[in-house]
Amino acid sequence: MIWAGGPTIGAPVVQAPETAEPKAAPPRAEGVRAVKRQPIDLARVTLPVFHSWDRQWFLLTAGDFASGKFNPMTVGWGAFGIMWKKPMALVVVRPTRHTQRFMDEYPEFTLCGFGAGHRDALEYCGSRSGRDEDKVSRCGLTPVASSRVAAPGFEEAELIVECRKMYADDFDPKRFLAQFIDGNYPNKDYHRMYLGEVVAVFGTEAYGASP
Ligand SMILES: Cc1cc2nc3c(=O)[nH]c(=O)nc-3n(C[C@H](O)[C@H](O)[C@H](O)COP(=O)(O)O)c2cc1C
Repeated sequence: MIWAGGPTIGAPVVQAPETAEPKAAPPRAEGVRAVKRQPIDLARVTLPVFHSWDRQWFLLTAGDFASGKFNPMTVGWGAFGIMWKKPMALVVVRPTRHTQRFMDEYPEFTLCGFGAGHRDALEYCGSRSGRDEDKVSRCGLTPVASSRVAAPGFEEAELIVECRKMYADDFDPKRFLAQFIDGNYPNKDYHRMYLGEVVAVFGTEAYGASP
């Protein structure tokens, strides 16, 4: 497994998964626990961004729910912010990821945040490739249609961020301005970054939804 990441802020909560073996499929829950998500106005979204990326992670899903052609993978590096006067999400995907094909082929993607009970599903989707197996049916999560994009969210998610691609480019090692960065790429598989406009956010009260 080639996740050269792991928590960077303070003491790690879990063992960095960079050397971990691919995880076994988590048991599917008996019936899907209904998560009460509401649309959240962007100005009201409450998200501890550093903690969320570094410790909780997101499930990035690109593709098209209606045709069944989509693929999820766990991401721990990325950002939320404002760009070109638009709310945006930044994700970075190595060329070795099956998901990159879907990110390039389809115009939209979602980022889903989960409660601690779904950690095993995130570890599964972050250690197995959709190139080798049907990850979706084995990860214990239930894809659901999104509101404004073709890529699905997941029923169990507490936060769903729907995004439309605005920009994509590969990191160019010639432009790295700090020496440590290259150490993240022993195989020279430089990430492709994607900036997506955030077009809808759905979440629980914890993320700012009205009760
Ligand atoms: C916590 C965690 C965070 C990860 N973050 C990223 C990331 O930001 N970018 C990336 O390219 N891979 C990341 N990975 C690795 C991919 O999730 C992993 O290689 C996955 O199996 C790719 O699946 P795919 O081949 O189906 O796309 C992460 C893995 C874990 C466990």
